Amino acid sequence: MGLQKVISAYIPQGVFVVTSKMNDKINGMTAAWVSQVSFRPRLLAVAIAPQRYTYEFIKNSGLFCINTLGKNQIDLAKHFGFKSGRNTNKFENVAYIYSLNGCPVLKDAIAYFECQVVGECQAGDHIIVIGEVTDHKILKEGVEPLIFRWEDFFGGVED
Ligand SMILES: Cc1cc2nc3c(=O)[nH]c(=O)nc-3n(C[C@H](O)[C@H](O)[C@H](O)COP(=O)(O)O)c2cc1C
Repeated sequence: MGLQKVISAYIPQGVFVVTSKMNDKINGMTAAWVSQVSFRPRLLAVAIAPQRYTYEFIKNSGLFCINTLGKNQIDLAKHFGFKSGRNTNKFENVAYIYSLNGCPVLKDAIAYFECQVVGECQAGDHIIVIGEVTDHKILKEGVEPLIFRWEDFFGGVED
């Protein structure tokens, strides 16, 4: 098994849709590389490749929102993870509300955490964007989060 598959299998991650806004536009992308990185204050981080359209939004507004997907939402993760908002409106047929400072929140997410960016740090081909939680809510109590499994998304792809 290649290193990437071993990392994915033995360093478990959830599956999230990271949303943001840029003026009156909204966008979101699927991310597995999300983590808490500080206790006080509560800081969350997401590793984002700089070429993601969502990264432009986060740079512009200084905000991102982590939407936690539930265990039966692989299709929603694929919807936000396999195409770019540069070419399509990924929210066209997706119901959403807004977090406190105006990031889109997927109505079907099981919880969300809106964050204000406090810093970022280059890490290889990704940028770790760090944010302090400014708003959050559990939307579906009792539903287990979706755990990232390489084969659910990249079955035939060798790393
Ligand atoms: C399951 C899954 C997990 C992903 N995790 C990340 C991630 O942690 N960081 C990242 O930069 N891209 C990740 N991606 C890729 C982005 O979601 C994908 O490139 C997306 O199309 C970017 O959309 P955008 O250009 O509208 O921002 C992931 C994709 C999938 C399917």
